[in-house]
Amino acid sequence: MTLDELYRPVEESLDQVRHAVADLWEDALKLVYGPGANPPKMGGKMLRPALCLLSAGALGAKDLSEFVPMATAMELLHIAALAHDDVIDDSDTRRGQRSLNAQWDNHTAVLGGDYLVARSIGILGHYDNTRVITNAIDSVREMAEGELTHFGQRSSEPTEESCISLSRQKTASLFAVTCSTPGCLTIGEPSRALHNYGHGFGIAFQIADDLLDLTQDPETLGKPACGDIVEGKTTLPLLQLRAALDEEGVQRLATMTGGELTEDDKEWVGTVIESTGVRARTEAVAQGYADDARRSIQDLSPSRYKDTMVGLTEFALARVS
Ligand code: IPE
Ligand code: IPE
Ligand code: MG
Ligand code: MG
Repeated sequence: MTLDELYRPVEESLDQVRHAVADLWEDALKLVYGPGANPPKMGGKMLRPALCLLSAGALGAKDLSEFVPMATAMELLHIAALAHDDVIDDSDTRRGQRSLNAQWDNHTAVLGGDYLVARSIGILGHYDNTRVITNAIDSVREMAEGELTHFGQRSSEPTEESCISLSRQKTASLFAVTCSTPGCLTIGEPSRALHNYGHGFGIAFQIADDLLDLTQDPETLGKPACGDIVEGKTTLPLLQLRAALDEEGVQRLATMTGGELTEDDKEWVGTVIESTGVRARTEAVAQGYADDARRSIQDLSPSRYKDTMVGLTEFALARVS
């Protein structure tokens, strides 16, 4: 199923979120471009706001429009994280366009991200519900903690556990909060089941992203391909690849760090990821987390919202961008 098909139960509210995000994004960009400018639009899969609305529906909310501001705020936190992430990763493209740091500089991109976090919290403040805000801020804290730990402990040997832990902190934390926060309005507290769904979903999603980084072309991704190799990152598939390659292969991979990959290099990466069995092994790990996600919501009442959430765990692994 396509994303549009999966999103059908929440399409109307999600459209409202798209407009709200576009307006806020324009507000931010106009501060930089100046009034009268026509700043570039921003796309994206809208997974976090869709999951926020779906979670509200799965918890039995009658009026999804009540959750449009919450879903908008979650997408703003995501875009802010992307703006900061592109500075950290020195990436020059995002969503098929030049990233903020590439259009201007790191300084502007960091401040732009901060601005969006502030706008997001401002929106959540309108719910006049402390749990809504503290829950959201928890994900911002966890994302930052993940990156700080990662950068602070660069000297320690990466392990499968540390790769998963980073995915949990930098990616799954926001998915968990996105899914659990609607519970503050429907059941009086963040939903534990949906929090667990978001965690499993987010880890599976990040592992799939790490694989796509190695196997997909930049045009389809809308962001650099093999960026994790160039940046010298240790993602789960790269950790496994380094362990599976012979000495010559490990050397070849190491020489790619910091440079630009040739077409030959990219083809070689695509070949060894298959021939070493790393793709299959990594996909199996991601599948395990997607299964966890599905199990977490099995006790929620049947609904088309829940059906889509199950479908999205499959999409997260099968997607091409
Ligand atoms: C990108 O997230 C960052 C990761 C967590 C891997 P998405 O793949 O959801 O990015 P957009 O929102 O579609 O651009
Ligand atoms: C995810 O990590 C970044 C965030 C959670 C913000 P990546 O560095 O893999 O994300 P991409 O590949 O740049 O989108
Ligand atoms: Mg990145
Ligand atoms: Mg990535």
